[in-house]
Amino acid sequence: MDTRTLLKIINFYARFTPNYTKIGYIARSLGWRRMPPLDFSGQRWLVTGASSGLGKAMMHAAANANAEVVGVSSNQGKLDAAVAELNEAAAARVTTIAADLSLQSSTQVLLDRLLARGERFDVLQNNAGMLLNEMSLTSEGRESTFAINVLSHYLLTSGLVENGGFNQDAVVVNMTSGGMYNAPLGIKGLNNTDESTYNGKASYAYSKRAQVALTDYWNERYGDRGIRFYVTHPGWSRTPGVQEALPIFWKIQYLILRTPRQGVDTALWLCATRPTVEEDVVWFDRKSRVTHMYDYTKKPQCTLQELADYFETELAGS
Ligand SMILES: NC(=O)c1ccc[n+]([C@@H]2O[C@H](COP(=O)([O-])OP(=O)(O)OC[C@H]3O[C@@H](n4cnc5c(N)ncnc54)[C@H](OP(=O)(O)O)[C@@H]3O)[C@@H](O)[C@H]2O)c1
Repeated sequence: MDTRTLLKIINFYARFTPNYTKIGYIARSLGWRRMPPLDFSGQRWLVTGASSGLGKAMMHAAANANAEVVGVSSNQGKLDAAVAELNEAAAARVTTIAADLSLQSSTQVLLDRLLARGERFDVLQNNAGMLLNEMSLTSEGRESTFAINVLSHYLLTSGLVENGGFNQDAVVVNMTSGGMYNAPLGIKGLNNTDESTYNGKASYAYSKRAQVALTDYWNERYGDRGIRFYVTHPGWSRTPGVQEALPIFWKIQYLILRTPRQGVDTALWLCATRPTVEEDVVWFDRKSRVTHMYDYTKKPQCTLQELADYFETELAGS
């Protein structure tokens, strides 16, 4: 490894380890106002990626706080195992649906099914996501991280909003990543199906940046319908997804990674407290934070409307 790369790595860990790990969580939580125990009685939640890691922690926390929860992932066996970890009363508040969110067809079936049974949600957690090291195409020909991390959530969210799938005062939370700090907003970086230029971390960063931008777009477009859209990131949390995608990082940080419950603290806090919506922020550790850390990401390569038009065209095309 050359000195430049080594310095970059040292700089990266020195900059982010104090805040993103449980060290930051514990230190910051000392200053938080005490809250009553979470109580989401009477609410209906939809959580994507509910079978593992952060989504499972959210599904568990919501069901333990009396919400009725619909948990979604691609694997029914994993969903069943996640529900089985709950006590009987909380488990009775959870239903699950297996749907492959990497596929537009399967996401559409999920959406149609939810709408057909007259579901109206108070909370949607757009959480399912992954980081790939090797390029993977879906059977519909899309790059997988683009399809799962953002396109499926675009389809699900806009489909629910446009078809009366939310109750008044609903909340939508997009789970982005600190990885988005590495990419500007841009369409070209999304859905990169060219193996010669593919870089998994870059594709992930672009998809996660798009989630941040979509949050502003949805607040502008749907805010007057009484729905609030937030975007949060979980810091660095100990989940199967991190272990699989970043094995070296996992080994280095394992002992100080946040627990999944710590990772979703802000997502839950947003639903419990519903702070005033702010433009161009990402919520982390119960506070709105900047969406850019580096100058090279500050100039967007497209507008919010162009981004939304791109998703619409993409969905109309298949
Ligand atoms: N953990 C962290 O430190 C961290 C940091 C930044 C951002 N995030 C973000 O947090 C979210 C959750 O990540 P995690 O760390 O909890 O990862 P994880 O443990 O791998 O969980 C990912 C979830 O997404 C679901 N999923 C994956 N592919 C799917 C598909 N095709 N269709 C439907 N569901 C699918 C998985 O379910 P099945 O396998 O059952 O389908 C699983 O429930 C992601 O959006 C990730 O980018 C995590």
